Amino acid sequence: MWGAGEPGAQGDLPAAGTAGREAMTALIRVPVRTAGTQYEVVVGPGALGELASLIPDGARRAAVVTQEAVGVTVETGLDQERMVIPGGEVAKKLGTVEDLCRRFARFGLTRKDVVVALGGGVVTDVGGFAASVYHRGIACVNVATTLLGQVDAAIGGKTGVNLPEGKNLVGSFWQPAGVVCDTEVLASLPAGEMRSGLGEVAKYAFIGAPGLEELSLPEQVARCVSLKAAVVGEDERETSGRRAILNYGHTLGHALEADALARAAGPVEAAGGVLRHGEAVAAGLVFAARLAFRLGRIDTDRVAYHDRVVASYGLAEHLPPLGDPERLVAYMAGDKKVAGGGLSFVLDGPSGVELVGGIDPVLVTETLAELAREMRSRA
Ligand SMILES: NC(=O)c1ccc[n+]([C@@H]2O[C@H](COP(=O)([O-])OP(=O)(O)OC[C@H]3O[C@@H](n4cnc5c(N)ncnc54)[C@H](O)[C@@H]3O)[C@@H](O)[C@H]2O)c1
Repeated sequence: MWGAGEPGAQGDLPAAGTAGREAMTALIRVPVRTAGTQYEVVVGPGALGELASLIPDGARRAAVVTQEAVGVTVETGLDQERMVIPGGEVAKKLGTVEDLCRRFARFGLTRKDVVVALGGGVVTDVGGFAASVYHRGIACVNVATTLLGQVDAAIGGKTGVNLPEGKNLVGSFWQPAGVVCDTEVLASLPAGEMRSGLGEVAKYAFIGAPGLEELSLPEQVARCVSLKAAVVGEDERETSGRRAILNYGHTLGHALEADALARAAGPVEAAGGVLRHGEAVAAGLVFAARLAFRLGRIDTDRVAYHDRVVASYGLAEHLPPLGDPERLVAYMAGDKKVAGGGLSFVLDGPSGVELVGGIDPVLVTETLAELAREMRSRA
């Protein structure tokens, strides 16, 4: 089993699980197919070496968008220029997109050329969005360097930036031409960033990858990518509701993030620094299990499985305090991912994880209070 709490050095990978080190060194190629395009996600140690093969034919220049902290270099085989954007959520703004597009123009990037977004979710969101609007859209290859980026942000074509009024309010669906998930680059990731990705990884265990936690890290990343690819293939633009399952654990997660942000009284751009996304999602997962239990959808064994998975990723001891249940319910009612007609949650059940509507807010408040008591008694 591979979990974390420490930076994700490859040396931390245990030999246990369904694959030994030999299997772990092989690159795994996961196809993503949408109505309009298809591309490959290359996963594993050394996947960076595959970057050049993912660049579309005919490209002569590559704008490599990255951040100082990323500390990863890439070789595209083209005339390339490194363009550094600031670190943190603060970089996810329209000003950064304008700045990048102007740098693209000064570099002489044409419609046939390529943007390489080299970093975590902030870089792939901003770099991908800039690529989607520059010359009305040029190719972008994502090189995901955080765990969250590898299992989530770099896959699926959602790009965008924040406004002072809210997160991700301006953006586009712009599928990358290819994605590189080199698990070796995670070695330099701070422990907190690793945990943030692990919250997302844990989610996948419940939406189609049981036993995920028993696999090696590259296998886990590849499994998460293929699950996300399958969902995106069915519901690229979030029209059918299928993509909602990717938000398992996120309704409470978003509420906790919004609450933490409001209490810090900071601007939306500071969201990333207030509460780790994956820790909030982990709380959302254990909460969703308890809510599903109260609704008679799952049994106590399944609730215990949620707790075990979250604990196996070292997240149980990092669950954020829940605060006032009624305030959280108010946030949840306002979450854009909550469907109309009362409170809706993505919940586990006899047919797997699905969107469930019409849930009584009182039950939600009681479940939150119960979880808060449980967490306090364990502390
Ligand atoms: N587009 C999507 O589908 C999608 C999905 C989930 C999240 N997101 C977005 O992703 C963003 C969060 O992404 P994130 O968690 O990757 O955070 P991030 O991009 O802010 O990266 C976290 C920090 O790690 C640094 N870093 C990146 N790679 C590193 C490495 N290999 N070694 C050391 N440091 C490294 C970054 O410079 C940054 O300081 C949010 O803005 C969120 O909205 C987008």
